[in-house]
Amino acid sequence: MQRPQILAVVGQGYVGLPLAMAAIDAGWSVIGVDNFEAKVSQINSGSSPVEDVSDLQLQSAIAKGVYRATTDFTAVADASVITICVPTPLDNKREPDLTLLRSAASGIAPYVSNETLVVSESTSYPGTLRDIIIPIVNSFKPATTSSIYFASAPERVNPGDPNWNQKNTPRLVGAVDEGSKIRALAFYEAICDAVVSVSTPEVAEAAKLLENTFRLVNIALVNEFTQLCSAGGINVHEVIDAASSKPYGFMPFRPGVGVGGHCIPVDPLYLTWWAHQNGSNATFVELADVINHGMPKYVAHRALSMVDQIINNPKVLIMGVAYKSGVGDVRETPVSELRDCLKTGGAEVAWHDPFVTTWEGTNPVDLDWDCDVAILATMQPGMKVDQLIQRGIKILDCTNSMTVREGVYSL
Ligand SMILES: NC(=O)c1ccc[n+]([C@@H]2O[C@H](COP(=O)([O-])OP(=O)(O)OC[C@H]3O[C@@H](n4cnc5c(N)ncnc54)[C@H](O)[C@@H]3O)[C@@H](O)[C@H]2O)c1
Repeated sequence: MQRPQILAVVGQGYVGLPLAMAAIDAGWSVIGVDNFEAKVSQINSGSSPVEDVSDLQLQSAIAKGVYRATTDFTAVADASVITICVPTPLDNKREPDLTLLRSAASGIAPYVSNETLVVSESTSYPGTLRDIIIPIVNSFKPATTSSIYFASAPERVNPGDPNWNQKNTPRLVGAVDEGSKIRALAFYEAICDAVVSVSTPEVAEAAKLLENTFRLVNIALVNEFTQLCSAGGINVHEVIDAASSKPYGFMPFRPGVGVGGHCIPVDPLYLTWWAHQNGSNATFVELADVINHGMPKYVAHRALSMVDQIINNPKVLIMGVAYKSGVGDVRETPVSELRDCLKTGGAEVAWHDPFVTTWEGTNPVDLDWDCDVAILATMQPGMKVDQLIQRGIKILDCTNSMTVREGVYSL
Protein backbone atom coordinates (compact mmCIF):
# COMPACT_ATOMS: atom_id res chain seq x y z
CA MET A 1 0.00 0.00 0.00
CA GLN A 2 1.27 3.49 -0.89
CA ARG A 3 2.30 5.43 2.24
CA PRO A 4 0.71 8.88 2.73
CA GLN A 5 3.01 11.71 1.72
CA ILE A 6 4.16 12.85 5.13
CA LEU A 7 7.43 14.71 5.51
CA ALA A 8 9.12 15.35 8.85
CA VAL A 9 11.53 18.28 8.85
CA VAL A 10 13.86 18.36 11.83
CA GLY A 11 14.86 21.96 12.57
CA GLN A 12 12.37 24.74 11.79
CA GLY A 13 14.70 27.61 10.98
CA TYR A 14 15.86 29.46 7.87
CA VAL A 15 16.21 26.16 5.99
CA GLY A 16 13.63 23.86 7.57
CA LEU A 17 10.56 26.08 7.58
CA PRO A 18 10.78 27.19 3.90
CA LEU A 19 11.38 23.54 2.98
CA ALA A 20 8.24 22.57 4.91
CA MET A 21 6.21 25.18 2.99
CA ALA A 22 7.66 24.08 -0.37
CA ALA A 23 6.72 20.46 0.34
CA ILE A 24 3.19 21.53 1.30
CA ASP A 25 2.91 23.37 -2.03
CA ALA A 26 3.86 20.07 -3.69
CA GLY A 27 1.05 18.20 -1.89
CA TRP A 28 2.85 16.88 1.18
CA SER A 29 1.71 17.04 4.78
CA VAL A 30 4.53 18.22 7.01
CA ILE A 31 5.49 17.78 10.64
CA GLY A 32 8.07 20.33 11.74
CA VAL A 33 10.16 18.96 14.60
CA ASP A 34 12.21 21.42 16.61
CA ASN A 35 13.64 21.09 20.10
CA PHE A 36 13.22 24.79 20.87
CA GLU A 37 9.85 24.89 22.61
CA ALA A 38 9.31 28.66 22.36
CA LYS A 39 9.89 28.53 18.59
CA VAL A 40 7.45 25.65 18.18
CA SER A 41 4.78 27.59 20.10
CA GLN A 42 5.45 30.70 18.02
CA ILE A 43 5.15 28.74 14.77
CA ASN A 44 1.99 26.93 15.88
CA SER A 45 0.44 30.30 16.76
CA GLY A 46 0.91 31.28 13.10
CA SER A 47 3.85 33.63 13.55
CA SER A 48 6.76 32.85 11.24
CA PRO A 49 10.27 33.23 12.70
CA VAL A 50 11.88 33.59 9.24
CA GLU A 51 11.50 36.25 6.54
CA ASP A 52 11.12 33.75 3.70
CA VAL A 53 7.86 32.34 5.11
CA SER A 54 5.00 34.77 5.66
CA ASP A 55 2.60 34.52 8.61
CA LEU A 56 -0.20 34.17 6.08
CA GLN A 57 1.44 31.20 4.37
CA LEU A 58 2.07 29.52 7.71
CA GLN A 59 -1.43 30.22 9.02
CA SER A 60 -2.98 28.82 5.84
CA ALA A 61 -0.94 25.59 6.14
CA ILE A 62 -1.94 25.19 9.80
CA ALA A 63 -5.62 25.92 9.03
CA LYS A 64 -5.67 23.33 6.24
CA GLY A 65 -4.28 20.75 8.66
CA VAL A 66 -1.23 20.05 6.48
CA TYR A 67 1.36 21.48 8.86
CA ARG A 68 2.13 21.44 12.55
CA ALA A 69 5.25 21.97 14.59
CA THR A 70 6.19 19.84 17.55
CA THR A 71 9.03 19.16 19.97
CA ASP A 72 8.01 15.50 20.04
CA PHE A 73 10.31 13.27 17.98
CA THR A 74 7.84 10.34 18.07
CA ALA A 75 5.94 12.26 15.34
CA VAL A 76 8.56 11.26 12.75
CA ALA A 77 7.23 7.68 12.89
CA ASP A 78 4.43 8.79 10.49
CA ALA A 79 6.86 10.20 7.91
CA SER A 80 8.06 8.50 4.74
CA VAL A 81 10.73 11.18 4.33
CA ILE A 82 12.70 12.83 7.15
CA THR A 83 14.99 15.76 6.43
CA ILE A 84 17.53 17.04 8.93
CA CYS A 85 17.96 20.84 8.82
CA VAL A 86 19.72 21.70 12.07
CA PRO A 87 22.62 24.10 12.61
CA THR A 88 26.21 23.00 12.05
CA PRO A 89 28.24 25.69 13.83
CA LEU A 90 31.86 25.91 14.97
CA ASP A 91 32.99 25.09 18.49
CA ASN A 92 35.20 27.35 20.59
CA LYS A 93 38.29 26.04 18.76
CA ARG A 94 36.60 27.10 15.49
CA GLU A 95 36.21 23.45 14.46
CA PRO A 96 33.03 21.64 13.29
CA ASP A 97 30.52 21.21 16.09
CA LEU A 98 28.14 18.42 15.12
CA THR A 99 26.45 18.19 18.53
CA LEU A 100 23.07 19.35 17.18
CA LEU A 101 23.32 17.14 14.10
CA ARG A 102 24.15 14.10 16.25
CA SER A 103 21.30 14.88 18.62
CA ALA A 104 18.88 15.28 15.68
CA ALA A 105 20.01 11.89 14.31
CA SER A 106 19.63 10.20 17.69
CA GLY A 107 16.30 12.00 18.19
CA ILE A 108 14.74 10.54 15.04
CA ALA A 109 16.47 7.13 15.17
CA PRO A 110 14.10 5.25 17.55
CA TYR A 111 11.08 6.30 15.48
CA VAL A 112 12.22 5.83 11.88
CA SER A 113 9.74 3.54 10.14
CA ASN A 114 10.59 0.91 7.60
CA GLU A 115 11.28 2.17 4.04
CA THR A 116 11.81 5.75 5.19
CA LEU A 117 14.16 8.12 3.38
CA VAL A 118 16.43 10.14 5.70
CA VAL A 119 18.09 13.17 4.11
CA SER A 120 20.60 15.57 5.58
CA GLU A 121 20.26 19.13 4.30
CA SER A 122 22.64 20.56 6.90
CA THR A 123 25.97 21.82 5.63
CA SER A 124 28.92 19.73 6.77
CA TYR A 125 32.18 18.16 5.67
CA PRO A 126 32.24 15.18 3.26
CA GLY A 127 31.51 11.94 5.09
CA THR A 128 29.07 13.41 7.62
CA LEU A 129 26.09 11.45 6.31
CA ARG A 130 27.97 8.17 5.96
CA ASP A 131 30.20 8.34 9.04
CA ILE A 132 28.06 10.22 11.57
CA ILE A 133 24.35 10.20 10.73
CA ILE A 134 23.92 6.70 9.31
CA PRO A 135 25.71 4.87 12.17
CA ILE A 136 23.65 6.78 14.76
CA VAL A 137 20.33 6.07 13.01
CA ASN A 138 21.21 2.42 12.41
CA SER A 139 22.30 1.92 16.03
CA PHE A 140 19.07 3.24 17.56
CA LYS A 141 16.43 2.40 14.92
CA PRO A 142 13.45 0.20 15.91
CA ALA A 143 13.99 -3.54 15.56
CA THR A 144 11.06 -3.62 13.10
CA THR A 145 12.78 -1.19 10.73
CA SER A 146 14.84 -3.28 8.35
CA SER A 147 15.37 -0.87 5.51
CA ILE A 148 16.19 2.88 5.62
CA TYR A 149 17.31 5.02 2.68
CA PHE A 150 19.86 7.81 3.06
CA ALA A 151 20.90 10.82 1.00
CA SER A 152 22.57 14.17 1.31
CA ALA A 153 20.92 17.20 -0.33
CA PRO A 154 22.63 20.32 1.01
CA GLU A 155 20.37 23.34 1.08
CA ARG A 156 21.60 26.32 -0.95
CA VAL A 157 18.93 28.84 0.02
CA ASN A 158 19.93 32.49 0.41
CA PRO A 159 17.42 33.94 2.91
CA GLY A 160 15.83 37.19 1.75
CA ASP A 161 16.85 36.69 -1.89
CA PRO A 162 14.00 38.02 -4.07
CA ASN A 163 14.98 35.87 -7.09
CA TRP A 164 16.37 32.57 -5.89
CA ASN A 165 14.51 30.36 -3.49
CA GLN A 166 14.19 26.81 -2.29
CA LYS A 167 12.11 25.88 -5.37
CA ASN A 168 13.98 27.42 -8.28
CA THR A 169 17.54 26.78 -7.02
CA PRO A 170 18.76 23.49 -8.50
CA ARG A 171 19.20 20.89 -5.76
CA LEU A 172 22.21 18.61 -5.43
CA VAL A 173 21.37 15.07 -4.39
CA GLY A 174 23.90 12.37 -3.51
CA ALA A 175 22.62 9.06 -2.16
CA VAL A 176 24.31 6.04 -0.59
CA ASP A 177 22.78 3.44 -2.91
CA GLU A 178 20.44 3.02 -5.86
CA GLY A 179 17.25 2.64 -3.76
CA SER A 180 18.08 5.80 -1.81
CA LYS A 181 18.89 7.66 -5.03
CA ILE A 182 15.55 6.80 -6.65
CA ARG A 183 13.61 7.95 -3.59
CA ALA A 184 15.67 11.08 -2.98
CA LEU A 185 15.45 12.18 -6.62
CA ALA A 186 11.68 11.59 -6.66
CA PHE A 187 11.23 13.65 -3.48
CA TYR A 188 13.31 16.63 -4.62
CA GLU A 189 11.94 16.52 -8.16
CA ALA A 190 8.52 17.02 -6.60
CA ILE A 191 9.52 20.12 -4.66
CA CYS A 192 12.32 21.69 -6.76
CA ASP A 193 12.37 22.82 -10.39
CA ALA A 194 15.69 21.08 -11.07
CA VAL A 195 17.64 18.34 -9.34
CA VAL A 196 21.29 17.51 -9.98
CA SER A 197 22.18 13.94 -9.17
CA VAL A 198 25.78 13.33 -8.06
CA SER A 199 27.47 9.99 -7.52
CA THR A 200 27.85 10.04 -3.72
CA PRO A 201 26.73 12.02 -0.66
CA GLU A 202 30.37 13.09 -0.23
CA VAL A 203 30.34 14.85 -3.62
CA ALA A 204 27.18 16.75 -2.64
CA GLU A 205 28.66 17.66 0.76
CA ALA A 206 31.95 18.80 -0.80
CA ALA A 207 30.19 20.81 -3.53
CA LYS A 208 28.32 22.80 -0.90
CA LEU A 209 31.60 23.61 0.85
CA LEU A 210 33.19 24.59 -2.46
CA GLU A 211 30.32 26.98 -3.23
CA ASN A 212 30.62 28.82 0.06
CA THR A 213 34.42 28.76 0.07
CA PHE A 214 34.35 30.28 -3.42
CA ARG A 215 32.44 33.22 -1.96
CA LEU A 216 34.72 33.50 1.07
CA VAL A 217 37.95 33.70 -0.94
CA ASN A 218 36.54 36.08 -3.53
CA ILE A 219 35.23 38.38 -0.81
CA ALA A 220 38.64 38.22 0.87
CA LEU A 221 40.33 39.09 -2.42
CA VAL A 222 38.14 42.13 -2.94
CA ASN A 223 38.50 43.16 0.71
CA GLU A 224 42.28 43.12 0.33
CA PHE A 225 42.06 44.84 -3.05
CA THR A 226 39.94 47.57 -1.44
CA GLN A 227 42.69 48.35 1.05
CA LEU A 228 45.23 48.53 -1.80
CA CYS A 229 43.02 50.86 -3.83
CA SER A 230 42.22 53.07 -0.86
CA ALA A 231 45.93 53.45 -0.03
CA GLY A 232 46.56 54.32 -3.70
CA GLY A 233 43.69 56.83 -3.88
CA ILE A 234 41.44 54.86 -6.24
CA ASN A 235 37.74 54.13 -5.74
CA VAL A 236 37.51 50.34 -5.62
CA HIS A 237 33.90 50.24 -6.78
CA GLU A 238 34.76 52.08 -9.98
CA VAL A 239 37.51 49.51 -10.52
CA ILE A 240 35.11 46.61 -9.92
CA ASP A 241 32.54 48.16 -12.27
CA ALA A 242 35.24 48.60 -14.90
CA ALA A 243 36.47 45.00 -14.56
CA SER A 244 32.87 43.78 -14.73
CA SER A 245 32.59 45.10 -18.27
CA LYS A 246 34.61 42.05 -19.34
CA PRO A 247 31.99 39.66 -20.67
CA TYR A 248 33.77 36.49 -19.49
CA GLY A 249 36.14 35.28 -16.82
CA PHE A 250 35.27 37.87 -14.17
CA MET A 251 32.59 37.93 -11.48
CA PRO A 252 32.12 41.01 -9.30
CA PHE A 253 32.33 40.76 -5.51
CA ARG A 254 32.02 43.81 -3.25
CA PRO A 255 33.99 44.68 -0.14
CA GLY A 256 32.38 45.11 3.26
CA VAL A 257 32.89 44.99 7.00
CA GLY A 258 33.68 41.29 6.73
CA VAL A 259 31.62 38.16 6.20
CA GLY A 260 28.68 37.11 8.36
CA GLY A 261 25.81 34.69 8.63
CA HIS A 262 25.66 31.04 9.41
CA CYS A 263 27.35 29.95 6.17
CA ILE A 264 30.19 31.93 4.60
CA PRO A 265 32.34 32.50 7.71
CA VAL A 266 31.64 28.98 9.02
CA ASP A 267 31.45 26.42 6.21
CA PRO A 268 34.97 27.01 4.81
CA LEU A 269 36.32 26.10 8.25
CA TYR A 270 34.58 22.75 7.90
CA LEU A 271 36.64 22.39 4.73
CA THR A 272 39.92 23.36 6.40
CA TRP A 273 39.20 20.97 9.30
CA TRP A 274 38.39 18.15 6.88
CA ALA A 275 41.60 18.87 4.95
CA HIS A 276 43.62 18.55 8.16
CA GLN A 277 41.91 15.23 8.96
CA ASN A 278 43.14 13.98 5.60
CA GLY A 279 46.67 15.25 6.13
CA SER A 280 46.25 18.25 3.79
CA ASN A 281 46.28 21.99 4.32
CA ALA A 282 43.79 24.51 2.94
CA THR A 283 46.27 27.38 3.22
CA PHE A 284 44.54 29.63 0.71
CA VAL A 285 41.18 29.29 2.49
CA GLU A 286 42.74 29.93 5.89
CA LEU A 287 44.38 33.10 4.58
CA ALA A 288 41.04 34.30 3.19
CA ASP A 289 39.54 33.83 6.65
CA VAL A 290 42.34 35.91 8.19
CA ILE A 291 41.90 38.73 5.65
CA ASN A 292 38.15 38.90 6.19
CA HIS A 293 38.60 38.98 9.95
CA GLY A 294 40.99 41.92 9.48
CA MET A 295 38.28 44.04 7.83
CA PRO A 296 36.46 45.23 10.99
CA LYS A 297 39.75 46.65 12.29
CA TYR A 298 40.39 48.34 8.94
CA VAL A 299 36.86 49.82 8.84
CA ALA A 300 37.15 51.03 12.45
CA HIS A 301 40.46 52.70 11.64
CA ARG A 302 39.00 54.38 8.53
CA ALA A 303 35.96 55.66 10.44
CA LEU A 304 37.93 56.98 13.40
CA SER A 305 40.32 58.79 11.06
CA MET A 306 37.30 60.71 9.69
CA VAL A 307 36.69 62.29 13.12
CA ASP A 308 38.27 65.53 14.22
CA GLN A 309 41.37 64.35 16.08
CA ILE A 310 40.76 66.72 19.02
CA ILE A 311 37.79 64.51 20.01
CA ASN A 312 39.18 61.87 22.38
CA ASN A 313 36.15 59.63 22.66
CA PRO A 314 34.21 60.01 19.42
CA LYS A 315 30.61 58.88 19.23
CA VAL A 316 30.16 56.40 16.39
CA LEU A 317 26.81 55.27 15.04
CA ILE A 318 26.74 51.90 13.25
CA MET A 319 23.86 51.63 10.79
CA GLY A 320 22.80 48.04 10.06
CA VAL A 321 24.04 45.27 12.33
CA ALA A 322 22.44 42.29 10.55
CA TYR A 323 24.99 40.42 8.47
CA LYS A 324 23.23 41.35 5.25
CA SER A 325 20.53 43.59 3.86
CA GLY A 326 16.86 42.75 4.20
CA VAL A 327 17.10 40.33 7.13
CA GLY A 328 17.30 40.59 10.91
CA ASP A 329 19.85 37.77 11.14
CA VAL A 330 22.85 38.79 13.26
CA ARG A 331 24.58 35.41 13.39
CA GLU A 332 28.34 35.80 12.96
CA THR A 333 27.82 39.42 11.95
CA PRO A 334 31.21 41.10 11.43
CA VAL A 335 29.66 44.19 13.03
CA SER A 336 30.40 42.61 16.44
CA GLU A 337 34.12 42.77 15.73
CA LEU A 338 33.71 46.26 14.26
CA ARG A 339 32.03 47.48 17.44
CA ASP A 340 34.81 45.92 19.57
CA CYS A 341 37.53 47.53 17.44
CA LEU A 342 35.82 50.93 17.69
CA LYS A 343 35.58 50.60 21.46
CA THR A 344 39.22 49.58 21.66
CA GLY A 345 39.96 52.75 19.69
CA GLY A 346 38.23 54.78 22.45
CA ALA A 347 34.87 55.31 20.75
CA GLU A 348 31.41 55.35 22.27
CA VAL A 349 29.34 53.13 19.97
CA ALA A 350 25.60 52.93 19.30
CA TRP A 351 23.71 51.10 16.59
CA HIS A 352 20.54 51.32 14.54
CA ASP A 353 18.87 48.57 12.49
CA PRO A 354 15.16 48.58 11.63
CA PHE A 355 15.25 44.77 11.28
CA VAL A 356 16.88 44.06 14.67
CA THR A 357 15.16 44.85 17.97
CA THR A 358 17.94 43.85 20.39
CA TRP A 359 21.52 42.78 19.74
CA GLU A 360 23.97 41.22 22.16
CA GLY A 361 22.04 42.57 25.13
CA THR A 362 21.85 46.13 23.78
CA ASN A 363 19.03 48.23 22.33
CA PRO A 364 19.19 50.32 19.16
CA VAL A 365 19.15 54.11 19.01
CA ASP A 366 17.31 56.29 16.52
CA LEU A 367 19.09 57.72 13.51
CA ASP A 368 19.01 61.14 15.18
CA TRP A 369 21.47 59.93 17.85
CA ASP A 370 24.10 62.61 18.29
CA CYS A 371 27.31 61.19 16.75
CA ASP A 372 30.64 62.33 15.32
CA VAL A 373 30.74 59.81 12.48
CA ALA A 374 28.47 57.06 11.16
CA ILE A 375 29.32 53.75 9.54
CA LEU A 376 26.88 52.24 7.08
CA ALA A 377 27.67 48.58 7.73
CA THR A 378 24.52 47.00 6.26
CA MET A 379 22.05 48.94 4.14
CA GLN A 380 18.62 47.96 5.41
CA PRO A 381 15.56 48.73 3.26
CA GLY A 382 13.80 51.84 4.49
CA MET A 383 16.75 53.11 6.55
CA LYS A 384 16.79 56.88 5.98
CA VAL A 385 20.53 57.45 6.14
CA ASP A 386 20.32 60.71 4.18
CA GLN A 387 19.10 62.52 7.28
CA LEU A 388 22.63 62.20 8.73
CA ILE A 389 24.12 63.99 5.73
CA GLN A 390 21.58 66.78 6.22
CA ARG A 391 22.87 67.09 9.81
CA GLY A 392 26.45 67.32 8.50
CA ILE A 393 27.55 63.92 9.82
CA LYS A 394 30.17 62.09 7.80
CA ILE A 395 29.31 58.55 6.73
CA LEU A 396 31.68 55.73 5.87
CA ASP A 397 29.66 53.66 3.41
CA CYS A 398 30.78 50.01 3.53
CA THR A 399 27.91 48.89 1.30
CA ASN A 400 28.34 50.86 -1.93
CA SER A 401 24.68 51.86 -1.68
CA MET A 402 25.04 55.63 -1.25
CA THR A 403 25.91 58.04 -4.00
CA VAL A 404 29.34 59.46 -3.33
CA ARG A 405 28.96 63.15 -2.42
CA GLU A 406 30.18 65.50 0.22
CA GLY A 407 30.13 63.77 3.59
CA VAL A 408 29.90 60.25 2.15
CA TYR A 409 33.08 58.21 1.96
CA SER A 410 33.31 54.93 0.18
CA LEU A 411 35.16 51.98 1.69
N1 LIG B 1 20.56 29.97 6.82
C1 LIG B 1 21.07 29.80 5.61
O1 LIG B 1 21.18 30.74 4.83
C2 LIG B 1 21.51 28.43 5.14
C3 LIG B 1 21.63 28.19 3.76
C4 LIG B 1 22.01 26.94 3.33
C5 LIG B 1 22.33 25.96 4.27
N2 LIG B 1 22.25 26.22 5.59
C6 LIG B 1 22.57 25.14 6.54
O2 LIG B 1 21.37 24.55 6.97
C7 LIG B 1 21.48 24.12 8.33
C8 LIG B 1 20.40 24.78 9.16
O3 LIG B 1 20.61 26.17 9.18
P1 LIG B 1 19.47 27.21 9.55
O4 LIG B 1 19.98 28.53 9.08
O5 LIG B 1 18.13 26.76 9.08
O6 LIG B 1 19.50 27.15 11.14
P2 LIG B 1 18.44 27.84 12.15
O7 LIG B 1 19.18 28.11 13.40
O8 LIG B 1 17.71 28.94 11.47
O9 LIG B 1 17.39 26.69 12.41
C9 LIG B 1 17.73 25.47 12.95
C10 LIG B 1 16.62 24.99 13.86
O10 LIG B 1 17.00 23.70 14.33
C11 LIG B 1 16.58 23.57 15.68
N3 LIG B 1 17.39 22.52 16.29
C12 LIG B 1 18.66 22.56 16.68
N4 LIG B 1 19.05 21.35 17.12
C13 LIG B 1 17.99 20.53 17.00
C14 LIG B 1 17.77 19.19 17.29
N5 LIG B 1 18.75 18.41 17.77
N6 LIG B 1 16.54 18.67 17.08
C15 LIG B 1 15.56 19.45 16.59
N7 LIG B 1 15.70 20.75 16.28
C16 LIG B 1 16.92 21.28 16.47
C17 LIG B 1 16.81 24.96 16.27
O11 LIG B 1 15.99 25.16 17.41
C18 LIG B 1 16.40 25.86 15.10
O12 LIG B 1 15.05 26.23 15.17
C19 LIG B 1 22.90 24.46 8.74
O13 LIG B 1 23.73 23.36 8.50
C20 LIG B 1 23.27 25.58 7.79
O14 LIG B 1 24.66 25.67 7.59
C21 LIG B 1 21.82 27.42 6.05
